[in-house]
Amino acid sequence: MHILKKPHTLPSEITPQAVYAHRRNFLQLSAGLVIAGLLPDVQAKLGPGKASVFSTNEPLTSLKNVTSYNNFYEFGTAKEDPAEYAHTLRTKPWTVSIEGLVKRPRTLGMEDILKLAPLEERIYRLRCVEGWSMVIPWLGFPLASLLRQVEPLGSAKYVEFITALQPDTMPGIRRGVLDWPYTEGLRLDEAMHPLTIMAAGLYGDILPNQNGAPLRLVVPWKYGFKSGKSVVKIRFTDREPRTTWMKSSPSEYGFYSNVNPAVGHPRWSQANERRIGEFFKRKTLLFNGYADQVAQLYTELDLRKHF
Ligand code: MTE
Repeated sequence: MHILKKPHTLPSEITPQAVYAHRRNFLQLSAGLVIAGLLPDVQAKLGPGKASVFSTNEPLTSLKNVTSYNNFYEFGTAKEDPAEYAHTLRTKPWTVSIEGLVKRPRTLGMEDILKLAPLEERIYRLRCVEGWSMVIPWLGFPLASLLRQVEPLGSAKYVEFITALQPDTMPGIRRGVLDWPYTEGLRLDEAMHPLTIMAAGLYGDILPNQNGAPLRLVVPWKYGFKSGKSVVKIRFTDREPRTTWMKSSPSEYGFYSNVNPAVGHPRWSQANERRIGEFFKRKTLLFNGYADQVAQLYTELDLRKHF
């Protein structure tokens, strides 16, 4: 991953608490309606975009920053490239194939996927390995509800995520910066964890292309790159998948990629982070602040070796 450029964000762009609280109430009411309006078939299932007990109550990063400071290398390596170029991404029709070590492999259309579970608003921290972080109000549903559809076999231990490859819409893939398509992976128990979601929207609206439309993974206790965008295939395996960043630089990016302030990146520290929109750095929290919910998944692991 490349070194970050300094974003030009003023402290005044931080969302004030009162505005955030008001907006959050508004979002709870409006989220389902906005998406339902765009996807009339699933209207009956959506409900009011209910808020989640897993949400943080920290101030939100502004919508402008969430949608204009992105990593989506298929559209270029600069932070502003995805907002500029991803409008070409074809997101309709969209299907996700779920295959591998499963009893019932299936290919599901986006509208059927959205019928599987009600969308919830999940306000999660996202911490990038480059040293910046954001707080994003996602609209999503637990990945577990999607994975259960195919009845995984007992031999399945890992889940691989393969993302879209559209050579004609993605200027970035012509440059050999990464091995395409972009892939990610999780252990099965991480994938089934209630904090792990598939997001179809943010800020009460459908997902902007630059944020991984129409469906992306969000794993809040791991560095941002684990959250693959524009997922088209999910494969159950018995072996640890080799992910895009591991192939690109195995000494820098491990399979687990849990946010861990005690394990530095070989070229820079991971002890602190800069919340986009804030001036001063803050201390990075173990598992990005989600230790109470996820630390038990890793009691057997040496987190320095399995970084
Ligand atoms: N998914 C795809 N397909 N391609 C990418 O380049 N970048 C990752 C991740 N998912 C990436 C991807 C990285 S490095 C980060 S930090 C997050 O997406 C950024 O998500 P955001 O732009 O929505 O904040």
